[in-house]
Amino acid sequence: MITPEIIKAADILRAGGLVALPTETVYGLGADARNEAAVRRIFAAKERPFNHPLIVHLAEASQLTEWASDIPPAAWQLAQAFWPGPLTLILKKQPHVLDIVTGGQETVGLRVPAHPVAHAVLSAFGSGVAAPSANRFTHISPTSAAAVREELGDKVDWILDGGDCAIGLESTIVDLSGPVPVILRPGMITSQAIHDVIHAPVAAHQGVSEARAPGMHHLHYAPLTKTRVLAAEKIPAYLQSLPITEFPLALLTHTSGHASARKDVLHVQMPDHPGAYAHELYRTLRTLDHQGLKNIIVQAVPDTMEWEAIRDRLAKASQRS
Ligand code: TXA
Ligand code: MG
Repeated sequence: MITPEIIKAADILRAGGLVALPTETVYGLGADARNEAAVRRIFAAKERPFNHPLIVHLAEASQLTEWASDIPPAAWQLAQAFWPGPLTLILKKQPHVLDIVTGGQETVGLRVPAHPVAHAVLSAFGSGVAAPSANRFTHISPTSAAAVREELGDKVDWILDGGDCAIGLESTIVDLSGPVPVILRPGMITSQAIHDVIHAPVAAHQGVSEARAPGMHHLHYAPLTKTRVLAAEKIPAYLQSLPITEFPLALLTHTSGHASARKDVLHVQMPDHPGAYAHELYRTLRTLDHQGLKNIIVQAVPDTMEWEAIRDRLAKASQRS
């Protein structure tokens, strides 16, 4: 799928520019991963601290050897099972990989995205594209081209519009650089699905040091509006207890029967299926951020594996409060 837009995007990357590109998870802000000045521009545009490493995006799994060394069999198994797709592998880096990309670490994050536009750009460009989510630091990741424009405006040279992101949450990150695979960031590929492919224990992300994976514990992925997650049965009493100055607020529920009769409560019915919920979540929070609300209250989602990435992002969304 080579269109004039794809050729232009690849040309901008070659010239050291920034291109926002759609992936199946969220939009990324891409630069030539081998060009230090270009990668620095990503940090400037996002106002992101330099020690936060970036994921390098590739067109094909076969390019892994150009970026990673000592690649364990589990990496090839996971690549075979889930690429192209919403999975990032952390592997020992090749010596040439820039410190600005890895945050000075000995590892590099690699992903082959599934979105046809991302794939076309990566193929046309022919090398790795460093791309964090295309939002300003600590903001919610953009899941549409309009959201990228809202976040970055003219700080990006070219925005490729690939429509709404199908998944809507960032990739699952698995660190394979140590003795035990560790999930650094849950995503819609669950730890169970990873275990089923590699047949080895997979450690959860709790307890991962901030130095290994900056961005895991900081205030991240948060709407600007104060957000709080509450079990369904606690919501009525909580609304009762809030002073009038805490309204209007939005109430997000995914099961029925929780609508409030109050005019100053905006009720948002979310899907009760995790895939559909993930798809809606960032778009919903972004829209609500524009509505002059005092609070966003979110009904806690189920405690099961399929909801793990959503639970993680809701926990992060409520950290600004
Ligand atoms: O779905 C995604 O992964 C999206 C799309 C654009 O691909 N990208 C994305 O990138 O979410 P970003 O930069 O917003 O989040 C990447 C996370 C960061 O928290 C970073 O700390 C972690 O990946 N990361 C990247 N390289 C790493 C490394 N070498 N070691 C540990 N963590 C790493
Ligand atoms: Mg991000």
